Amino acid sequence: MAHIAAWLFRKMQGAELYLTLRALRAKGQRIASTATFGPRVQLRIHPESTLEIGEGVRVLQDSWLISHPGNTLVLGERVFISQHCTVSGSVRIGDDTLIGGYVTIIDGNHVIGDTSRPIAEQGGVQKPIDIGSDVWIGSNAVILQGVRIGDHAVVAANATVTRDVPAWSVVGGTPASVLRDRRETS
Ligand SMILES: CC(C)(COP(=O)(O)OP(=O)(O)OC[C@H]1O[C@@H](n2cnc3c(N)ncnc32)[C@H](O)[C@@H]1OP(=O)(O)O)[C@@H](O)C(=O)NCCC(=O)NCCS
Repeated sequence: MAHIAAWLFRKMQGAELYLTLRALRAKGQRIASTATFGPRVQLRIHPESTLEIGEGVRVLQDSWLISHPGNTLVLGERVFISQHCTVSGSVRIGDDTLIGGYVTIIDGNHVIGDTSRPIAEQGGVQKPIDIGSDVWIGSNAVILQGVRIGDHAVVAANATVTRDVPAWSVVGGTPASVLRDRRETS
């Protein structure tokens, strides 16, 4: 009995995602037919935003893709997003980029300038994030608003990326700094 209940539960979860994908496609969002999504992936895509998901994209379980009005969220071809990631706002991720588990990529910050009012009342600022092609982002990294990551770069596990990352570089730490250039042999 428990076996059947578990099977039904899995089926229902899949159905919810299937309906979301159908609705998004019907509204003109581009989601390639070869893209795959694991259990409990959430696509919280605002109707007044643009979503593009390329061929061969894979998003593993419990990851969330989120957009707000006016945002453009683009995953290039064969982008791989591991489990429990959050990708939110105007974010472009280039072809063949790999994103490890528990990575957070959010284009927004709270405004904190007015010390006489709670932060929650001060609104937010969004700045698009641009991640190149053939980039590898290690587990638990956090990519902050406005950051551009060049093609072929590597972001080490647990890095907090606050500034642009040059192409081919390996960056790590909090805040992330360049550890080396991949093209230089030691
Ligand atoms: C960055 C990484 C790819 C190694 O790159 P590398 O260029 O081969 O680095 P090295 O191991 O030669 O280390 C170079 C320096 O960077 C430091 N470093 C390596 N990883 C680091 C990290 N995650 N954070 C901070 N510094 C790091 C090393 O301590 C070393 O410092 P030192 O020169 O002062 O001794 C690897 O450490 C890493 O973080 N991989 C991600 C793993 C992961 O998340 N896997 C799951 C997702 S697929």
